[in-house]
Amino acid sequence: MENKVTFGSKFGTLVVVAGSCVGLGNIWRFPYLAGNNGGSAFIIIYILCSLTIAIPIMMSEFVVGRSTRKNAFGAFKELSRQKKWCLVGLFGILTSFLIYGFYSVVAGWAISFIQTAFTEGFTGRSPELIHSNFIDYINTGWKPTIAALIFIGLTASIVIGGMEKGIERINKVLMPMLALIILGLFLYSTSLAGFKAGMDFLLKPDFSKIDLNTFLTAIGQSFFSMSLGMGCMVTYGAYIKKETSLPSLALTIGLTDLTIAVLVGFAIFPGVFTFGIEPTSGPTLVFETLPLVFSMMPAGNLFGIFFFLLVFIAAITSSVSMLEPICLFIIQELKTTRVKAVLMISTIVSILAVLCAYSQVEGSPIRLFGSNLFDFLNNITDKFMLPFGALLIIVFVGWFANKELVRNEITNNGLLFNKGFKFYYVIIRYLIPIILSLFVLSLLGIVKW
Ligand code: TRP
Repeated sequence: MENKVTFGSKFGTLVVVAGSCVGLGNIWRFPYLAGNNGGSAFIIIYILCSLTIAIPIMMSEFVVGRSTRKNAFGAFKELSRQKKWCLVGLFGILTSFLIYGFYSVVAGWAISFIQTAFTEGFTGRSPELIHSNFIDYINTGWKPTIAALIFIGLTASIVIGGMEKGIERINKVLMPMLALIILGLFLYSTSLAGFKAGMDFLLKPDFSKIDLNTFLTAIGQSFFSMSLGMGCMVTYGAYIKKETSLPSLALTIGLTDLTIAVLVGFAIFPGVFTFGIEPTSGPTLVFETLPLVFSMMPAGNLFGIFFFLLVFIAAITSSVSMLEPICLFIIQELKTTRVKAVLMISTIVSILAVLCAYSQVEGSPIRLFGSNLFDFLNNITDKFMLPFGALLIIVFVGWFANKELVRNEITNNGLLFNKGFKFYYVIIRYLIPIILSLFVLSLLGIVKW
């Protein structure tokens, strides 16, 4: 069953794909990774990885999706005529489930924080209180669970509407709002005393902090942030109109995603420096450190409300892009209705989210390989499943898919980007597979550096 629906307009295409990319990856992960890895030195490497590795992979995922107009599983089946390649699609669908499971918990935190900002506010609270409030909140188990379930329900209600009437319509409203909030927060942060220190941290590279791990982190982050390696962009590719140029779409999205990550950094770090907070405080930077900043800054509550609203909007436009790939797979392969597919997936993801939320409660027995389920999923998807999935996809497009088909998709049947095609093809056949193989092998501990 082929997908007959396409994006309604150019603007629609841009906001939907950008909506998928701009998410917790930009707002929650990127700042703490940059903080932990030497600020601008990490950012420079991250930009390089995004341009040379992530953007060509995004183009390749689009090729698979648009040329077949199918879900990730069906697309590989159609293009390869070899059964085993469908497994790449299935692997991506499994990855989507796992990411969606822990992602909804983090997005739920944002919902709870918006509530806190409205009810109790952040102003005047001591650092100890803010820290213990967050820990207490996590330790209740049920509070983050309910927030995550609300988030899953909201995502489901959007995806039930389908691509054009659900996802595209809501993204057209939410993405401009998101851009406005980021700009507003950024302008506000320029007025803070720590603005210069924040800028220095983000603009003056400290290359002594760079090692191989920095590169691995940057590659993993660029996949997560640009929604690559699990067939999400294959699925969105199935909705892209024939006339759209895939290289320019991927480039526009890649640059937007990068710009937003950096702008968020610019909006956050001045506050961090103004109030003398360590930029290296890790994954809790956004949820523990920032409320502290809000508690001390003028108009901190308002800033807090807008900030967590931003986190929520960014998260929901991304979570629809985790649900939709699984949904399209179930609709096309198991021939059910959209409503049934959404309900089925949301039920399974809810169970996973409950387990993730409760795994963070102190002393919880919900653990795998030495870490709680939440951390385990956060790490295994980003550090292994996405790079491995991306490697399989890129090897497929570079070595197994019909070259003419790939060329026609990338160049719009010879109309555009003809000169660039050769370059793209070399990159996806040689450069990226080599880098990603080393990456995957080093993670498996086979290559020691
Ligand atoms: N890119 C999103 C973010 O930055 C997360 C995301 C959405 C994602 N869809 C994905 C990550 C598919 C990997 C694969 O928050």
